[in-house]
Amino acid sequence: MSEFKLRLRRYDPESGSAPYWAEYSVDLEGHRSVLEGILQAKGETDGSIGIRCSCRAAICGSCGVLINGKTALACHTHLDKAARHAKDGVIEVEPMSNMPVIKDLIVDMDAVHWKKQQRVTPWLINKEPIPEREYIAPHESMVDITQSMACIQCGACVSSCLSMEIDPLFVGPAALAKAYRFVGDPRDAQQYERLKDLAEDPHGMYDCTHCFNCIEACPKGVAPMNQIMRLRRVAGDHEIVDRNNGHRHESAFVTLVKDYGLLHEAELLPRSYGGDSWFGKFHPNAGKELLDSLPVVVKGLMRRKMNPKIALFGHKLPKDALGEVQRIFDTVESRPARDELNLYIKGYDEDDSGAQDSGAGGPEHANNAPDQGQPGQEPEESPVR
Ligand code: SF4
Ligand code: SF4
Ligand code: FES
Repeated sequence: MSEFKLRLRRYDPESGSAPYWAEYSVDLEGHRSVLEGILQAKGETDGSIGIRCSCRAAICGSCGVLINGKTALACHTHLDKAARHAKDGVIEVEPMSNMPVIKDLIVDMDAVHWKKQQRVTPWLINKEPIPEREYIAPHESMVDITQSMACIQCGACVSSCLSMEIDPLFVGPAALAKAYRFVGDPRDAQQYERLKDLAEDPHGMYDCTHCFNCIEACPKGVAPMNQIMRLRRVAGDHEIVDRNNGHRHESAFVTLVKDYGLLHEAELLPRSYGGDSWFGKFHPNAGKELLDSLPVVVKGLMRRKMNPKIALFGHKLPKDALGEVQRIFDTVESRPARDELNLYIKGYDEDDSGAQDSGAGGPEHANNAPDQGQPGQEPEESPVR
C-alpha cells in the first residue's frame, strides 16, 4: 500500500459557488486505478464527490476525466503512473473539456457528445431490395470499419479536440469516426449523401486541423483523425466539390508538392479558392481571399517570416531531389487500388484461405484490437492493407 494524493476539481451548481480544488489522501497499491482512488475518497472521506462510472474495466466509457491535464479513462490509468506525471506529486483530476459540467467530474454528454452522434445518422440505411437471407459483406470492407466500430463512446476524443475548442459546432472526432463506420459499410445505401452532407457542412469533415489529439486520447485505438481522413479520401473518390473548398485545398496541396517537391504556400491559397491550376489566382473567389490576406502577407514580409522570392516563385529543389519526390507520386498513383492501412488489425488469420471468403466475419478481429492497458503484447505485422 502507498499513499497517493488526489486534487479533485469540485463544482456544485446548486451551491451557487465557483469551482474549487479539494485534496484527498488515499491508501492503495500503485497499480490500482485513479478511479479506485476517487471512489475510496468518496467512500471514506466525502460522499458528495461526483464521478460517473460503471464497468471499471475500460469498457462502458463512463469515467472519462482530465488527469494531470490530459483526457483519460479514470479506470484505465494507474495511480503510480499518474503520480509520476503529476507536477507536484499530487494527481489532478478535472472534468472533461468541451462539455458542460453537471457536477464535480461529471459532464453533460447529452449536450455535446450524444447530440453530435445523432447528427451523423448513426445507423445503417440498408440497400434495397433487402436480400432474402443475410447480406454478405466483403471481408475487406468489414476489416476496414472494425477500427471505428471499437468506439466505446467515452468522449475522450471530444474532450481533447482542439478544433472543437475553437468551433463548438464542429461535428467532432467521435461522430465523424461513427460516420465512417457507415460510409465504409457496403451495405449502406447513402454513402454519397452522407459524404456530401459532411463535406458541405462548414463544421463538418474539413473542420479537423490534424492535431492528432484525438488519436492520443482514445483508449481504444479508434484513431478518429484517421477515420476523418478516410471520409475525405472517399469524398475525393466521388469528386465531391464542397463549398468549404476542402476538396480543392487537398488537390492543390498534392499538385503543388508534386510540381515543386515542397509546398508552394503562396500558390496554395488562390488554388484552394480559385481552382487547382496556375490560372486559379485569376478567379474572383481567389482574388477576394488574396485581398483579405494582404495584411498578413505584409506583416510576414516585414517580420522577415516570408521570403518574397520564394513566395513568388516557390522553392527550387535540385533536379534529382525533385525527381525522387515525383517518383514517389508515380509509384503511389500507378497502384491499381488505394492502400488503406488498417493498423488496428494485427496478426494473421489462423486459416489464411478463410480471409478471402466473402462474409467471413470481420467482428472476430475486434478481439485482436490493441488495448492500451495491456502492456507486454508484442505488435505483430499487419497483413491487412
Ligand atoms: S485531429 Fe482533428 S478531430 Fe482529432 S482532435 Fe485534432 S482537430 Fe479534433
Ligand atoms: S473514438 Fe475513442 S476516444 Fe472517441 S469516443 Fe470513441 S472510444 Fe472514446
Ligand atoms: S468505468 Fe467503464 S470505462 Fe471506466
